Amino acid sequence: MNEFVFHNPVKLIFGKGQLQKLSQELANYGKKVLVVYGGGSIKRNGLYDEVMAILKENDMEVHELSDVEPNPRVSTARKGAEICKEKDIDVILAVGGGSVIDCVKLIASAAKYEGDAWDLVTRKAFAEDAIPFGTVLTLAATGSEMNAGSVITNEETEEKYGWGGPFNYPKFSILDPTYTLSVPKDQTIYGIVDMMSHIFEQYFNNAKNTPVQDEMCEGVLRAIMDNAPKLVEDLENYDLRETILFAGTIALNGFLQMGYQGDWASHDIEHAVSAVYDIPHAGGLAILFPHWMNHNVNVNPARFAKLAVNVFGVAPEGKTQDEVAFEGIARLRAFWTSIGAPETLAHYDIDDSKLDLMAEKATVNGPLGQFSNLNKEDVLSILKASL
Ligand code: NZQ
Ligand code: ZN
Repeated sequence: MNEFVFHNPVKLIFGKGQLQKLSQELANYGKKVLVVYGGGSIKRNGLYDEVMAILKENDMEVHELSDVEPNPRVSTARKGAEICKEKDIDVILAVGGGSVIDCVKLIASAAKYEGDAWDLVTRKAFAEDAIPFGTVLTLAATGSEMNAGSVITNEETEEKYGWGGPFNYPKFSILDPTYTLSVPKDQTIYGIVDMMSHIFEQYFNNAKNTPVQDEMCEGVLRAIMDNAPKLVEDLENYDLRETILFAGTIALNGFLQMGYQGDWASHDIEHAVSAVYDIPHAGGLAILFPHWMNHNVNVNPARFAKLAVNVFGVAPEGKTQDEVAFEGIARLRAFWTSIGAPETLAHYDIDDSKLDLMAEKATVNGPLGQFSNLNKEDVLSILKASL
C-alpha cells in the first residue's frame, strides 16, 4: 500500500436519543447559531421542532436559512454567508441530508472569506478559516457528515464541482436512525446506490498489498446488499435504517481509503450530468457506474473478478477471468435494478443532444480517474452506453 496519514477530527455521535447531546456540543462554540435546512422534510418529521426546543432551552440566538436545494447551489451558500457576516454567527448547524451539509461547508468558509464563495469551489482561493459547524444527519448516503468534501452547483454556468479542505470537517455529527425513518423510497434507494458507489470507487485502485482494505470494502458492501432489499420493502424498520446509516458514514469517512487513492471518475461524470440536468446524484451513478466498469475491465480484470466472486457470489469454476468479471458487473446492474434504481439516462428524459457538452464539462480540468485515466472520448463513450 502507499504511505498515508489518517486524521479525521469529526466527533461522531450515533444512536437513538442522541439529539440530546446537541446542547452540550453547541455550548463549545457560542450563543449565536445559524440553523440551515432543506425544503421542509425536517418540519414534517418533527425534527425541526425538537432542534428548536433544544436551542430555546439553551437561550441561543437562532437565525435560519431554509430551502437548501438537493444539488445545493452557490447562490444559497452566498445567502448563508451573508447572514453569518451580518449577524456575527458563532456556530452553524446543518439539519438535513448531504446537500444541506455540503452547503453549510461552503457557508462556513465563505463567511470568513472576502471574495465570492464560488472561488473556494473552483480553487481560485483556499479557505484560511471557517465558522465551526455541526450536523444532524437525516439521510444515509453521502458520508458528508464525516468527511471534508462538499459538492456545489453553480446554476448560472451549469457547473457542479466537488471541493474540500481542512476547514470542511464538521465539529460533530449527530446520527439518530429515527430521523431517517421518513426518507421516501426513491431517496432511500439513491442513498444505497451512492454509498455502494463510494466503496467501489475506492476498491478500484492501483495499490498493491491491500488485503485488509479489500476485506473491509467487500464486507461493508455485503452488509449493504444483505440489508438494502429488506429496507426498501420496510422503510420504517429501525434496525435496517441503523445499519444503512452507519454503512453510509463508513463508506466515505476515509476508513476504507487508507493506503491508496480512490478513482472518482464516475462521480466526476455524474456531477457533469447533474450540472446540466439537475438529476439526483445517485440516480445518475446507478446509470453510469456499471458502464464505467465495462469500460475499465481491461485495466485490471483480476480486480473485477475478485469483486464478482467475493461480493456478488459469482462461481468462478469453468469460466475465464473476463467472464467472471463481466458476470459481476451484470449482477451489480441486476441488483440495483431489483431495488428500483434507474438504468438509463432516458429515465430522466436525457437524450443524446448534450452528451458532448457533458463530456466536455467533466474533463475540462484534464483526464479523470486514478485507476484509469479517462479523456473526453472515454467519457463520451460511457455516456453513449448509458442512453
Ligand atoms: O430538502 P428536504 O425537504 O430536507 O428533502 C430532502 C431532499 O428532497 C429529502 N430528505 C432528506 N432527509 C429526509 C428527506 N425526506 C424525508 N425524510 C428525511 N429524513 O431528500 C432529498 C434529497 O436530499 P439530499 O440532501 O439532496 O440527498 P443526499 O444526502 O443524497 O445529498 C446529495 C448531494 O450530496 C452530493 C451530491 O452530489 C448531491 O449534491 N455529494 C456529496 C458528497 C460529500 N460531501 O462527500 C459525496 C457524494 O458523492 C455526493 O456527490
Ligand atoms: Zn456520491
